[in-house]
Amino acid sequence: MKAKHLIFLGPPGTGKGTQAQLLNDKFGWAAMSSGDILRAEVKAESKIGLAAHEYMRSGALVPDDIITGVILAGLERVAAGRGWILDGFPRTVPQAEALAAGLAKWKLPIDGVIYFNLPDATIIERIVTRRVCKECATTYNVRFSPPKAGDRCDRCGGAVIQREDDREEVIVKRLSTYRTQTAPLIEYYERQGLLRSVDASLAPATVHAAALELLARLDASA
Ligand code: AP5
Repeated sequence: MKAKHLIFLGPPGTGKGTQAQLLNDKFGWAAMSSGDILRAEVKAESKIGLAAHEYMRSGALVPDDIITGVILAGLERVAAGRGWILDGFPRTVPQAEALAAGLAKWKLPIDGVIYFNLPDATIIERIVTRRVCKECATTYNVRFSPPKAGDRCDRCGGAVIQREDDREEVIVKRLSTYRTQTAPLIEYYERQGLLRSVDASLAPATVHAAALELLARLDASA
């Protein structure tokens, strides 16, 4: 498989992070989760983290200039020729335009945008049962994929906790934020011929297989 530059787009809790991690494990492509990056900044109590925390806790988006600067700086550090997956960025049209401008400067294409399609009821169920490692951000689910050692991470032994924005009242706000600010990107990337859809209701391994098939088709049509 040729290294790819991908965007994972979709509502919260649809499995974007889970699938980015599977592609990272398989191909070594950099999986850049804007949420994980921001949570690390919050934990470090950096200037960015302090500015972002209140927005995140309430289910709102952090301002475009903050997240765009962080992601473009991160992309600049990815070695030339290595694949990458942007999980959770862009989330607004201005973010998408800033990304396009940055990539044009570096002469890097976007190979595809994968849209994760899942009904709201399943989204809420998955998010309230999600747990994450406080140290390395590995994702678990108390119903579908719990850590083997109860509340300790299988990968690093860190504490496995519930995210502070994974409470039902914040999830409802995150879904509404998604609909008003992020959903317009579906049409934005459709118009560019980049959008591909996966049925995110299937088991993780089945979604992964569907993603691999999509990516193989991108290679075949290149
Ligand atoms: P972020 O961390 O990006 O949250 P999100 O987009 O809301 O996405 P999630 O992490 O909730 O879900 P996911 O799709 O990755 O699902 P996962 O794989 O974990 O953002 C958090 C906040 O940061 C935002 O609200 C905002 O404030 C800020 N932010 C981030 N990016 C920003 C940006 N660009 N601009 C402005 N602000 C930004 O899966 C969910 C659960 O389901 C897990 O438990 C998992 O184990 C389970 N699961 C996964 N796949 C399956 C499956 N196929 N079957 C059954 N269970 C599954």
